[in-house]
Amino acid sequence: MAEAQAAAEDRPAVSPDPQARPASPAAASILFVGDVVGGIGRRTLLESLPVLRERYTPTFVIVNGENIAGGLGITPKIADELLAAGIDAITLGNHTYHRREIYAYLDSQPRIVRPANFLRSQPGHGTCVVEHDGLRLGIVSLSGNLYLRAGRSAFTEIEVALADLGAVEHILVDMHAEATSEKVAMGWHLDGRVTVVVGTHTHVPTADARVLEKGTAYITDVGMTGPRGGVIGVKRDQAIKSLLTQMPVRFETSEEDPWLMGVLIRCSQPMRADSIEQILMPRPTAA
Ligand SMILES: [Fe+2]
Ligand SMILES: [Fe+2]
Repeated sequence: MAEAQAAAEDRPAVSPDPQARPASPAAASILFVGDVVGGIGRRTLLESLPVLRERYTPTFVIVNGENIAGGLGITPKIADELLAAGIDAITLGNHTYHRREIYAYLDSQPRIVRPANFLRSQPGHGTCVVEHDGLRLGIVSLSGNLYLRAGRSAFTEIEVALADLGAVEHILVDMHAEATSEKVAMGWHLDGRVTVVVGTHTHVPTADARVLEKGTAYITDVGMTGPRGGVIGVKRDQAIKSLLTQMPVRFETSEEDPWLMGVLIRCSQPMRADSIEQILMPRPTAA
């Protein structure tokens, strides 16, 4: 981890990426940003986006927003702000329903997705399609079943979700799960059938980003966009007090050492990835 961070800090000033320009009918690049935590994460994301757009010229930008409203959930106002900033779609997770005001929005806004394997009776939907330059990217949100509350199996419901997407050139699956085993298994299960499987939820980036045997890009966890100085987003003294005393402690979002964490996937063939690159970047104005 220390080496990866050092590499990110050593990165030279922004330079346009020659590989990012589409060269074939299915050529695309997908920027996926891990769980954005609170206002500090939102500001880090919005300030980093111009840098990332110049460096990578992504065709699509997808963000996991399950922690963006004060650390838990998302509101319609914040979701609108992200979409207005040019983010193509927002994925969610176990904190989807923390804010009651998002329920109707989840039903009416096609470009925000909650796990497809929640119950059908729960607000929202689990898939969407976004389009740029004639290229269609299907997006699927899934929840793991181990230690998380999801009404149906991710492994059976993914088939329904993929069928729902119809004809698209690329598919991104956000597998929001606690257990690494479920995420690794989903990567292999979908290898060759989707463009990329990204893991989210733990807020800690893993070092296993790679393209699998049949061409699907994969990472077990992208990490979070938020304060590295806390405990997965929470002020560290509060998290430690809770663990020490075993008593209820009010949690607030840490503001210390905000970073953006994401991945950039490059593709030249339909449903295949050429590469996946980890992005670990301090907030531009805090650098
Ligand atoms: Fe999260
Ligand atoms: Fe989560």
